[in-house]
Amino acid sequence: MIRDLDLGKKGKKMHEDVQRADVYSLVDKLDRNKELTKDEFIFLIDNRNYLNLEELYQRARDIRHKIYGHDVYLRGLIEFTSYCHNDCYYCGIRKSNSNAERYRLTKEQILSACEAGYALGYRTFVLQGGEDPYYNAEKIADVVRDIRKRFPDCAITLSVGETTKDNYKMWYDAGAERYLLRHETANEEHYRRLHPEYQKLSNRMECLYNLRDIGYQVGAGFMIGSPYQTTECLADDLIFIKDLQPHMVGIGPFIPHHDTPFADKESGTLELTLFLLAILRIMLPEVLLPATTALGTISPDGREKGILAGANVVMPNLSPQDVRGKYLLYDNKICTGDEAAECRGCIDRRIEAIGYKPVISRGDHISKR
Ligand code: SAM
Ligand code: FES
Repeated sequence: MIRDLDLGKKGKKMHEDVQRADVYSLVDKLDRNKELTKDEFIFLIDNRNYLNLEELYQRARDIRHKIYGHDVYLRGLIEFTSYCHNDCYYCGIRKSNSNAERYRLTKEQILSACEAGYALGYRTFVLQGGEDPYYNAEKIADVVRDIRKRFPDCAITLSVGETTKDNYKMWYDAGAERYLLRHETANEEHYRRLHPEYQKLSNRMECLYNLRDIGYQVGAGFMIGSPYQTTECLADDLIFIKDLQPHMVGIGPFIPHHDTPFADKESGTLELTLFLLAILRIMLPEVLLPATTALGTISPDGREKGILAGANVVMPNLSPQDVRGKYLLYDNKICTGDEAAECRGCIDRRIEAIGYKPVISRGDHISKR
């Protein structure tokens, strides 16, 4: 009986040793080949508990240090409209949320947010908003043109959702050179469970390829721990990203918003987000990886931990103080009460405290990405 128990224990130990060796060799393989099969990604994610995660983060950091040193790029985020005609089930500004407070900044307000950002040293402006019918393609082009004229040395990033290739081209010609459009999930079945029928994954993916064709620096991405996400979904995300080769990958935990159909769902975890940041850094060494506000929301030092797992971008908020609390994609969002200058100071201190350097340049000189 006792011998059986011993053998059982031994067998289990041997099995664990094999699993551990397999997981480590998959990390080596990813580092070497910069890709894995779907089954390999699934095995790696499901068995990540066998890895020494600190070692994994160190490996991711070593890769980013070789390319970007200890620089962390700061990009000023202007959330210019909380109106949205889409209805993503996870999002607090979805059109069916009648409790959401709606606002939109005028062109002049956007320009003065840029002005304030410029004075604080920002040289990249990220204009993000819901898909707001008021801000049609021409109006957005007009705003971009004016920012380009007033701040010729700054990079303009847009993040305003899905539209036609012609509209993307118009904005590119007006002076926008970067575009953030998270694909949200590369798994068709999962996409269906996160969005109403009329929002199509195929369209979102086509938009990403169109943006890339036009010449934008493109950012894709997905939420970690969104409802119904499986390991298979995450493997699909990693394979899609490998194929798209975006310049940026924005990942952050899903966090429920109390006025959405996902109000009762669990948040994504810090642990899985950090693990995937490190995996992305190993797979795409040059990629720009933001430590997101959502990561800082689920854990007070989440953004710092994100940087230590391989992230190299932070996007402090430049929106005017009176509208910040209205761009609520999820509950308990951080930095909703701060002034732009406070946000800048806070982020600088946090980055420096972990031995990194906040950098406000456009970042183009380091790599083509
Ligand atoms: N409308 C643009 C778009 O669709 O790309 C930009 C704005 S959208 C609100 C920005 C991102 O917020 C989405 O791509 C999504 O990943 C993220 N987001 C929305 N709701 C979220 C939630 N509950 N938790 C975490 N992230 C969320
Ligand atoms: Fe606006 Fe999803 S709710 S894009």
